[in-house]
Amino acid sequence: MANKKLAVAKDAKKDEFYTQLSDIEREARHYRNFFKGKVVLCNCDDPFESNFFKYFALNFNSLGLKKLIATCYATSPIIYTQLTLFGNEVVTVKEESTKKPYKIEISEVTDENQDGRVDLADVEYLLKNHKNALTLLQYDGDFRSAECIELLKQADVVVTNPPFSLFKEYVAQLVEYEKSFIIIGNQNAITYKEIFPLLKDNKMWLGYGFKGNVGFFLSPYEDYAVSSHHKEGLIRISGVMWFTNIDIEKRHEDMILFKTYNPDEYPKYETFDGIDVRETQNIPCDYYGVMGVPKTYMNKYNPEQFELLGYEREDENIQVGISNMPEEFLQAYRTQGGTGHYTKGMKMLCYYDKDGKAKIPFSRILIKRKQV
Ligand SMILES: C[S@@+](CC[C@H](N)C(=O)[O-])C[C@H]1O[C@@H](n2cnc3c(N)ncnc32)[C@H](O)[C@@H]1O
Repeated sequence: MANKKLAVAKDAKKDEFYTQLSDIEREARHYRNFFKGKVVLCNCDDPFESNFFKYFALNFNSLGLKKLIATCYATSPIIYTQLTLFGNEVVTVKEESTKKPYKIEISEVTDENQDGRVDLADVEYLLKNHKNALTLLQYDGDFRSAECIELLKQADVVVTNPPFSLFKEYVAQLVEYEKSFIIIGNQNAITYKEIFPLLKDNKMWLGYGFKGNVGFFLSPYEDYAVSSHHKEGLIRISGVMWFTNIDIEKRHEDMILFKTYNPDEYPKYETFDGIDVRETQNIPCDYYGVMGVPKTYMNKYNPEQFELLGYEREDENIQVGISNMPEEFLQAYRTQGGTGHYTKGMKMLCYYDKDGKAKIPFSRILIKRKQV
């Protein structure tokens, strides 16, 4: 299997996960009307490797794009590898680096090879024969470099799967330049202190997403998924989501609530005036106080239905009044076999369940109903 060959990537930051065309298609179809007349930038995308480039090049005319720009990062840890845009999607190892930082700008896709249809062969023809479509970048293609920022300024919308390790910086730059975006990120990002305020202030939300928040990516890394989850040639990543700031229908849809509140099933927190809801689908329909819900609730978030208040840890950006964990709670927690680096000085959500067991829930978002 090709991805096992790549020892070169082992010690590097793990950023090489290539998105499948089918996943891009599944998300992008919800934004079809948005793209008309827009300049699309894919700025973490080697056009010869990236299915983002492929998707927008193939759909250039049907989406009515004004321009497509893609830039490639030179110092990729898999610089000796190449996926192929025009052939089978496999990771292969090349003898020497062919990867130079370059950009591709396309303002039209016509029937270049005159075979009676406009398809990927025309894009290939265009790249090979129109010298000004593909040009070398001066620097390394880092999305933060001055020349890439100049391209960002030209763009209306940025669509890509950026490096996971630089997600905060990546989003901060999009926000700074006031760009529309549809990007892939990890669900952990929801409670990054730089990201949560954007969700809370309705400057960013989740897209339609991956089934079960699990994505399969083309990647040079070893796949540790159990065999029933393994897909040959792909790597399984759980907790992947699309983040966007483009309005979509989903975010105006009310979540259907069918459970009713009872204190046994929804224990009160010891350190906060609110109740714990273990599963998003069980949010009670008749509770109007603050509720702690799992992060995956964000997939259902409709700002007209619920207000986002904060998340499980007290942070200087989002202070909702979680108090320090009491000593006796921590003692009970440890006595019951609870582990983790908790101290009584921590402002954490915690509760006693209906059997009197001390519990510290994993990662909660605090929400409150808006409509009565
Ligand atoms: C998660 S991969 C996704 C690649 C591609 N967007 C896709 O979805 O198929 C992120 C890509 O960003 C590249 N990258 C890493 N650091 C970067 C930087 N500072 N600027 C631009 N690209 C970078 C990585 O080399 C990697 O190819």
